[in-house]
Amino acid sequence: MKIGIIGAGNIGGNLTRRLTALGHDVSVANSRGPETLRELAEETGATAVRAEDAAKGAEVVVVTVPLKAVPDLPAGLLDGAAEGAAVIDTGNYYPQQRDGRIAAIEDEGLTESRWTEQHLGHPVIKAFNGTYAQDILDRHRPAGDPDRMALPVAGDDEAAKRKVRALIDELGFDTVDAGTVADSWRQQPGTPVYGLRAGTAAVEKALADASPERPADFRG
Ligand SMILES: NC(=O)c1ccc[n+]([C@@H]2O[C@H](COP(=O)([O-])OP(=O)(O)OC[C@H]3O[C@@H](n4cnc5c(N)ncnc54)[C@H](OP(=O)(O)O)[C@@H]3O)[C@@H](O)[C@H]2O)c1
Repeated sequence: MKIGIIGAGNIGGNLTRRLTALGHDVSVANSRGPETLRELAEETGATAVRAEDAAKGAEVVVVTVPLKAVPDLPAGLLDGAAEGAAVIDTGNYYPQQRDGRIAAIEDEGLTESRWTEQHLGHPVIKAFNGTYAQDILDRHRPAGDPDRMALPVAGDDEAAKRKVRALIDELGFDTVDAGTVADSWRQQPGTPVYGLRAGTAAVEKALADASPERPADFRG
């Protein structure tokens, strides 16, 4: 499958490694330009491209940049994506350490992914946001393995969500349907499921146990 990855850091780099290993046709971009991604491209066989070209023809696009960088992404970023493309948002809001205060999230109560999709102008599927980047490389397991981790996946577009859940299964993880983008506060930073390394039942329980109140550590 043709996959575009925008952001080549901890998460984007490791998704590039695993998705190419599975045989997918991956284009990957960062902010500094394809010439700075030569090493990753040589290592994985992915094609390093400019951010504005990363989504071209892609059935799945992964947006995996710091939240504060989302408004800086090129306009029309997703215009060339394949019809019905699923756009994965891995982002988290870290107002104190990285992103600064975002009023629409804190005062208007937008979920982080709703804020992101408003900037992107395209619906998103929230996935991997609570997954340690290294686990993408180290903790994948075959279906049915008792140690297989489950990842929560939220989004409004059911077809896109199915596509993303199938891809995550291929990557070696179970998934739990965590509802819509409006429900996705249940997997934001500071919630019980955030960073949880566990199987389906524990992930379902953690999502159910979440409190809608934003923890102090994640308020600007
Ligand atoms: N690290 C984790 O374990 C982890 C786990 C789950 C979720 N997340 C979340 O996933 C997101 C990405 O995290 P990360 O740790 O992978 O970040 P990271 O290592 O800091 O990498 C960020 C990537 O985004 C690129 N980028 C920044 N601004 C850009 C722009 N305007 N256009 C194109 N590319 C741009 C950077 O490119 P340059 O280097 O060229 O600037 C870099 O390749 C964050 O929201 C984070 O909270 C992280």
